[in-house]
Amino acid sequence: MKNFFSVEDINDVYKIIYESILIKKNPYNFQHVGKNKTIGLVFFNPSLRTRISCQKAAFNLGCNVWILDIEKNSWKIEMNDGNIMENTQEHIKEAISVMSLYCDILGVRTFPKLLNRDYDYEEVLFKKILLYSKVPVVNLESATLHPLQSLADVITIAEYSSFFKKKCKLVLSWAPHVKPIPQSVANSLSQWVSKIKEINFIIACPKEYDLCKKFSKNIKIEFDQKKAFNNADFIYAKNWSSYSNYGKIIINDFSWIINMEKMNLTNNAKLMHCLPVRRNIVVEDNVLDSKHSIVLEQAENRIYAAQIIFLKMLQKSL
Ligand code: CP
Repeated sequence: MKNFFSVEDINDVYKIIYESILIKKNPYNFQHVGKNKTIGLVFFNPSLRTRISCQKAAFNLGCNVWILDIEKNSWKIEMNDGNIMENTQEHIKEAISVMSLYCDILGVRTFPKLLNRDYDYEEVLFKKILLYSKVPVVNLESATLHPLQSLADVITIAEYSSFFKKKCKLVLSWAPHVKPIPQSVANSLSQWVSKIKEINFIIACPKEYDLCKKFSKNIKIEFDQKKAFNNADFIYAKNWSSYSNYGKIIINDFSWIINMEKMNLTNNAKLMHCLPVRRNIVVEDNVLDSKHSIVLEQAENRIYAAQIIFLKMLQKSL
């Protein structure tokens, strides 16, 4: 049984991107593979894109799908072992085991609480899910990683760079936000992009927002946002809370907003964001509404990222 937790579960990143682009051209070619198969999608946190793109991907493959929003439609789940369950009704052990009996692939989203760095970065909760599931599990965004988002991101970059025909410069730029956000998108993007030698990857962030070295080692960090934007081909806007002062907003420098003045420093760069995006806090309206923006293309590619992973899992060829 092979899970999809991170890019480390992929043998060849170039091949999976190529196959995703092929499946996008003929999305219904593998309906026989999904016949009589069921994909279960479990959300401990809200979602728009992940939920619907995975559902669409499953339909494209001819699969049945069920979705459970734990907070809204289920029992209160006990995550810890050994507790006297006075205030919780069902233990994660039975919940995941039972749900996995009702599907052939189980997708799970579990955001970090951003309270305990060791607990989050050890992926304690997701490890329990992997342990208790009786079928392969797909990471729909865990405490530290969002691999389906990153696969969609690199598919999009491949499409806009003629499949990495020439080197391109990608800048992941920290941007302001009003509440603490996990580091999962930034961590995951760093992991995926480090496997693609044609991408010159730079992280631009204020000094206070350095990322976990496990994912960002060997990546160039630039504290001068405008310098980083110079000649960039892709700007990926994203907020994350502090890693070193874990889960905190230390400073909220609104001068880091992505605006047209900064986009004008680039090589007519494409603007990326995983969405949802807070307009005029993270990115200004006139950038999101301009030809620079490829956020919708990115969101569409979430379908094919999920579809290729489900397909490989059903074919037992991941
Ligand atoms: N980008 C992303 O994961 O979107 P959702 O949170 O809406 O699923």
